[in-house]
Amino acid sequence: MDPAGGCPHADNARLLARGAVTSVVLPGEVAGMAVLGHDALREFLARPEVAKGAAHFTALREGRITAGWPLLTFATVRGMTTADGEDHRRLRSLVSRAFTARRVEELRPRVEELTAVLLDALHRAARNGGGVADLRGHFALPLPMGVICELLGVDAEYRDRLHHLSNQVVATDIGPEQAVAANRELVAVLATVAARRAAAPGDDLTSALIAARDEEGDRLGQEELIGTLVLMIIAGHETTLNLITNAVRALCGHRDQLDLVTKGDASWADVVEETLRWDAPVSYFPFRYPVRDMTVDGTVIPQGTPVLAGYSAAGRDPAAHGPDADRFDVTRPGRPGAVRHLSLGYGAHYCLGAPLARLEATIALERLFTRFPDLDLAGPEAELSRHSSFVGNSVRALPVRPGTSRG
Ligand code: HEM
Repeated sequence: MDPAGGCPHADNARLLARGAVTSVVLPGEVAGMAVLGHDALREFLARPEVAKGAAHFTALREGRITAGWPLLTFATVRGMTTADGEDHRRLRSLVSRAFTARRVEELRPRVEELTAVLLDALHRAARNGGGVADLRGHFALPLPMGVICELLGVDAEYRDRLHHLSNQVVATDIGPEQAVAANRELVAVLATVAARRAAAPGDDLTSALIAARDEEGDRLGQEELIGTLVLMIIAGHETTLNLITNAVRALCGHRDQLDLVTKGDASWADVVEETLRWDAPVSYFPFRYPVRDMTVDGTVIPQGTPVLAGYSAAGRDPAAHGPDADRFDVTRPGRPGAVRHLSLGYGAHYCLGAPLARLEATIALERLFTRFPDLDLAGPEAELSRHSSFVGNSVRALPVRPGTSRG
């Protein structure tokens, strides 16, 4: 895997042509594997002999992983993404109530309100910037960050720092000292946030988690409380940020598809689902470990191997999506009886925030293109600088010309 990230699709196509499962070399020359084919990945994600707990990671157990390994937080953060079985159900159930379709729908007015405020800010930034503004920094980032911070009761003063630190944690090319420092500071900032909520509880998720920690019966340990906050902050904004950014890039590069939506021949929800498939915001997710040697699509994955879930590859697998899998097509019919994409995960660890991500992205895109129908990229797509990560899949900044504002 190239720690510098970059656009994954050309490499994915090359690897997929060789098979649905491949060996990879992770940073630090650690041997791993990746599952890339759609059907193979769905099967792998659902197999009971696949674990997420770091105790199953052979190289880690044998002391071959250093403290500054750039992917260490993914493997060891104490929360639901690294838990199995009963532990996983316990950790997930503590937050899942806040993310049901019904609870998320109640957030609609607030998401709409925040979107309107940010569109004003984007308009102002473009006016001050000679007609050009960074859509990622002014819109795609602060929307999901604002929402997840409000849900978690994180005061506004911490948000920029939290984004900076979480961005370092998901970078795969970060040096060992920087990785250790970013992780330590992220934990420290979130411990401060938790201490504030403990002193002044509110109607937020952090206060609810603290109440669970303080109850009798070991519902949540202190390390799990902070690990859950780390997870919610990272998963709750880095991903939706990439989705909104990638959808705007896709629509600007395919104006015919944008026209289909504005004419009513496709919906904004179709844009969101097709972007999830075509340009998955989470490219390769670390890690799962077979608890015994297993065979997937004819390839043996040895016990204890760190395996990446190759969501960006699965989204363009021609075996699942047809010979035109590379084409961005918002009217693409799903395969009868099959899931359209796996980009929000599959099985027990299916994305907890899926309803929220979909709500935020549909509102954001609809309002953005309704207010700025002529919005376009300010420069060639090929010149956009990419994220330095093979986990997140997007660009670092998205300079756009919003054009005339309708409102
Ligand atoms: C477009 C936006 C999003 C994408 C593409 C996305 C993608 C994913 C994927 C692929 C997984 C499964 C990872 C794996 O185990 O292989 C996942 C899990 C998760 N997501 Fe999301 N996510 C998004 C938004 C969100 C939001 C907004 C939140 C929080 C509110 C969130 C919270 C989580 C959590 C907590 C998990 C772990 C679930 C578990 O281990 O049981 N995600 N997400």
